[in-house]
Amino acid sequence: MNAFSTTIERLRVTPGTVGVIGSGAMGSGIAQVAAAAGHHVLLIDLDEAALDRSATALKKVMDRLVEKGRMTADEADALQGRVVRSTSMAALAPCDLVIEAIVERLDVKQSVFAEVESVVGPDAVLATNTSSLSVTAIARALEAPERMVGLHFFNPAPLMPLVEVIPALQTEPGLDAACFELMARWGKSPALAKDTPGFIVNRVARPFYGEALRMVEEGIADMATVDEAMRSVGFRMGPFELMDFIGNDVNYAVTESVFAAMYFDPRYRPSLVQKRHAEAHWLGRKTGRGYYDYREGAVRPAPVADPKLHQLIQDRILAMLINEAFDAMHMNICSEADVETAMTRGVNYPKGLVAWGRERGLAQTIADLDALSNRYGEDRYRCCPLLREAAAQEA
Ligand SMILES: NC(=O)c1ccc[n+]([C@@H]2O[C@H](COP(=O)([O-])OP(=O)(O)OC[C@H]3O[C@@H](n4cnc5c(N)ncnc54)[C@H](O)[C@@H]3O)[C@@H](O)[C@H]2O)c1
Repeated sequence: MNAFSTTIERLRVTPGTVGVIGSGAMGSGIAQVAAAAGHHVLLIDLDEAALDRSATALKKVMDRLVEKGRMTADEADALQGRVVRSTSMAALAPCDLVIEAIVERLDVKQSVFAEVESVVGPDAVLATNTSSLSVTAIARALEAPERMVGLHFFNPAPLMPLVEVIPALQTEPGLDAACFELMARWGKSPALAKDTPGFIVNRVARPFYGEALRMVEEGIADMATVDEAMRSVGFRMGPFELMDFIGNDVNYAVTESVFAAMYFDPRYRPSLVQKRHAEAHWLGRKTGRGYYDYREGAVRPAPVADPKLHQLIQDRILAMLINEAFDAMHMNICSEADVETAMTRGVNYPKGLVAWGRERGLAQTIADLDALSNRYGEDRYRCCPLLREAAAQEA
């Protein structure tokens, strides 16, 4: 009984062995986090060159930490010594926990997990780092789907504290709670999320991009002004700078996938402005051009210094974000504590959205949403019932 939860509880107190499949951006970071927590790590990739790149990258990070005095040279050597790399799945045999971070395709993940299950012991726990697929659908490929859980790390995994812990429909009761505790023991800030499109962060954050794009599309404000307005309320980057940083291809794909997976709810509708930028291959920093021009000598357009316009931008984006946070609670995707953790620890929001809503006054957020709803007559701007109820209790 509860064999899989017991495996995770044991990992909290013994070094144990953690497997990581995929040594790209995420897998390499997750391997570093697990090794830093004292585990032996088996890092697997089909591609030998990816494993070599990952070893070089880890060495560079370790050297920098030693240089900065955050670690001794011996500790850095010991951590690197705990990571063993292989191209063979069979090497995963001794693992207590295997975290998969390979290509984002359901069929590939299912077949890799079926292979892993034939290699590991009967009590081993299997986790996926998927951002957008259903953990339940991935688990279906297993003989014992109750051993599967989602552990969604954020990029870069060693620096971003949030890990969304996502039980599949089939997950053994208690395994999610055991994983939550293990992630806390790894120094992470876990948040428990239901297996729904985008989990917490990639769902609740959609209006940060969507409303910004919509205002620009309508000509209410230009990109630089939207960015400036949002930075001035504490966001580290404005929506357009952030989309350029993430990549317009990646951000657009997430929006499109959440939109389709949410049965085309207009709240998540993607923007043609972003689609055209992706089509032009103006993907952002990585291609030298996105919403802004990053080429040598390019000059950033100046934002419009109009306090009323800034307020309008902030009110509109914040109202939609706060509404989305309440909706995640309303739909039992997460608790209030977990939505606050997710947005502050996964995407560096300056405040939790529920706390922010209360600070502004929930009635203000409702008034902003109702004004948008009246103006546009679109379902996109409907106010979440839980937000109305919370405001009524506040009054
Ligand atoms: N990049 C992000 O910001 C981010 C954040 C959270 C979650 N994720 C998710 O993490 C996963 C990995 O993303 P990434 O950005 O690290 O990708 P990546 O392309 O950087 O790395 C993927 C690695 O997996 C390897 N691989 C592919 N198929 C394999 C197989 N069958 N067996 C073994 N290795 C295989 C590839 O060789 C590659 O090295 C995806 O599911 C992605 O959705 C990504």
